[in-house]
Amino acid sequence: MVCLGNICRSPLAEGILEAKVDPKHVIVDSAGTAGYHIGEPPDERSVQVAKKYGIDISGQRCRQFVIDDFSRFDRIYVMDHSNYQALVSQATTAYEKNKIKLLLEETDLGVVEVPDPYYGGRDGFEKVYALINSACEAIARKISTDG
Ligand code: 4NP
Repeated sequence: MVCLGNICRSPLAEGILEAKVDPKHVIVDSAGTAGYHIGEPPDERSVQVAKKYGIDISGQRCRQFVIDDFSRFDRIYVMDHSNYQALVSQATTAYEKNKIKLLLEETDLGVVEVPDPYYGGRDGFEKVYALINSACEAIARKISTDG
């Protein structure tokens, strides 16, 4: 799960998907394309909205995406087109590039980007939570049927 800062959207996506899959079979992680907040916990507004739905993301720490992530992970989900471009520009093969998907393309919600909630209010985090949750439902269903 990848966003810009790895403190608002992708930590939520990591926590939400992790809660829906079998940890014995699936490793979920998150990272940012930028390094502004490395080592920091998620944004308090993300921590609070996750907590409201029974998910604890407070132990996560921000890290930046590294090239090695292309080999460590089978699927790389990004939140918006800007994240997509940032990763595509680092991919060195078509195989790596094809691992990168817009998270909301897993849904039929009619929106393809998870908006950046960083500069907005708490309602933005609720909206982001709902979007990410829908996509993670779909991903978890897919994993449980095709492994
Ligand atoms: P995120 O949100 O990409 O969902 O983690 C942001 C967090 C921090 C910044 C931008 C977006 N920032 O500019 O510091």
